[in-house]
Amino acid sequence: MIPRIDFMTKPVLLTMSGSLRKGSYNRMLIAEAVRAFGEAEVIEGDLNLPLYDGDLEERGMPASVQTLMDQARRADALIIGSPEYNKGITAPLKNAIDWLSRAKPNVLANHTAVILSASAGRTGGETAHFNTHQILTQLQVNVVHGPLILVAAAHNEFGEDGALNNDFLKGQIADRMERLRALLTAS
Ligand SMILES: Cc1cc2nc3c(=O)[nH]c(=O)nc-3n(C[C@H](O)[C@H](O)[C@H](O)COP(=O)(O)O)c2cc1C
Repeated sequence: MIPRIDFMTKPVLLTMSGSLRKGSYNRMLIAEAVRAFGEAEVIEGDLNLPLYDGDLEERGMPASVQTLMDQARRADALIIGSPEYNKGITAPLKNAIDWLSRAKPNVLANHTAVILSASAGRTGGETAHFNTHQILTQLQVNVVHGPLILVAAAHNEFGEDGALNNDFLKGQIADRMERLRALLTAS
């Protein structure tokens, strides 16, 4: 990883939710992580992209894809919410990563990411979380390691205001985001 932050600039975080819906628990989880990180410029990535299609790419990057690529290039870290659909990574997240992997020059190699997962099931989307980690590793993204941050039965864990109510998970998130900040500001 190449540290790029000095203490005079705000770190730039690009959030990527693998769920497109407004009321998404993964969006809430990302918001919790961003709050825990503290001062930052936060860009909410829009993963509502066309499906990857080589013919489309040949005609020129779709504007929404180019925007995400530019945002990823500007960002110091990616904060990824990876829900689980049928024991795997969701289509919007995989599709976004596929598009980003086509950026020239490479935008993902040596980038830094935190992965978080919330799901309705008992495992908190563990399989999708692993899927996402595996894909990012192949793309040489530096995932900030640690105990997997998994919110099981997410419908029971967030309040009306969208904040996480679970102190154990909040502690895990605070620790991960503190480590992310330390990594980004390391000289
Ligand atoms: C197509 C589909 C497949 C799903 N498969 C799983 C699954 O394999 N494991 C799981 O824990 N939850 C599964 N769920 C439930 C999701 O965890 C739940 O909808 C969750 O709220 C999705 O994240 P979001 O709140 O960020 O949209 C599935 C939901 C959908 C729509």
